[in-house]
Amino acid sequence: MALRCFGIFTAVLVAIGGAYYQLSLKSTLEKAGLWRQITNIGAENCRQVKGLEACEKIVLHQPSGILYLACSSIENRVNWTPALDHLNASAVLPDKDHIAAYDPSSNKITHMKIKGMADTRLSVHGMDVVPSSKSPAELWFYVVNHRVPRDGKDPVEVGADSVVEIFKGGVGGSVLEWVKTIESEHLHTPNDVAGDPDGQAFYFTNDNYAKRGWKRQLQIPLGLQQTSVGYCHVDEGCRIVAPKLPAANGITRAHDGTYYVASVLAKVIALERQTDNSMILGDIIEADRGLDNIQVAENGDIYAAGFPDGFTIQSYFVDPFGVVCPSSAVRISKNTDRSSFFGEKYKLEVIFQDNGTFTPPATSAVYDSRRERLFLHGILSTHLTVCEA
Ligand SMILES: *[C@@H]1O[C@H](CO)[C@@H](O)[C@H](O)[C@H]1NC(C)=O
Repeated sequence: MALRCFGIFTAVLVAIGGAYYQLSLKSTLEKAGLWRQITNIGAENCRQVKGLEACEKIVLHQPSGILYLACSSIENRVNWTPALDHLNASAVLPDKDHIAAYDPSSNKITHMKIKGMADTRLSVHGMDVVPSSKSPAELWFYVVNHRVPRDGKDPVEVGADSVVEIFKGGVGGSVLEWVKTIESEHLHTPNDVAGDPDGQAFYFTNDNYAKRGWKRQLQIPLGLQQTSVGYCHVDEGCRIVAPKLPAANGITRAHDGTYYVASVLAKVIALERQTDNSMILGDIIEADRGLDNIQVAENGDIYAAGFPDGFTIQSYFVDPFGVVCPSSAVRISKNTDRSSFFGEKYKLEVIFQDNGTFTPPATSAVYDSRRERLFLHGILSTHLTVCEA
């Protein structure tokens, strides 16, 4: 009898587990875009700006409307993008990776020159640009740099020699003065950064658990929580402040001191900064697609680049010239509708979507709410997309 009861109990458990698994698998595949119809959304008043290539990250300087972009060449990205396990270091061309400034009012593009950096290896990825608290015309640049390893070390064995560079620049200027390189065992797979206005400290995401290792490939398909957020101070070094996050990519600071982390596993995770610079987990906002870089616009709404098709993008990353893959941008705002009474605190809208022929997969989507313009660029994109609202 006991055995039979146990059998029934197990059968019920298995049934519930199976149903749960099916639900969760269905939802995972749905978010990855398996059944998504790609309609073009919000693409009417958009134009392409040439002369900026393979820019993973866009940061808006709100007062001037100037964009700062972390750019490369598509060839360099195909050969060397450690986050995607592209580790053909010997094919990397120096001088392709750079920080660019783009002024939409004049259409002027400036390739910023770097001064004072002895180690000239630069392979850019995520970035933050923060007006100085001392003088707002001064800017602190925090730049993820996936350096090619030295001393003949094989990157397929050891991964990238990743660091964060701190530079100082000025609004409208064309020179970045190198200040410091931050290295740490905790800063192993940096993806994006959110810097302080004093040039002294920043938060960063690690987009994987280690530079190399077989479990790297499993985090997206299995939904593993093996990424993290860390904090570095120029005098104190680095430490992990939020471990075990799901596929953390972009990170940004909101005006109220909340930080938002965007996940390729279709979520935005809010983190609340404490006085000792540790973080407390806040809201988790569910999205309908994988997200990459994230921004809080001046009007308070959250913008993020989204991947409408998580399957095609795998082949696009390997062959960006041969594969057409869709792009999108989402807006997340505080829900003021009646549904907010039923616990829906945030509202997610797809504000831009393209089948990939006009705008290739965006890894950064930034909104200038003063000038009502949306900007999109991507790690393998041939051009910047500018949309007037
Ligand atoms: C993508 O959309 C454009 C504009 O609507 C259309 O002309 C084109 O045929 C579409 N391409 C694909 C591959 O669906």
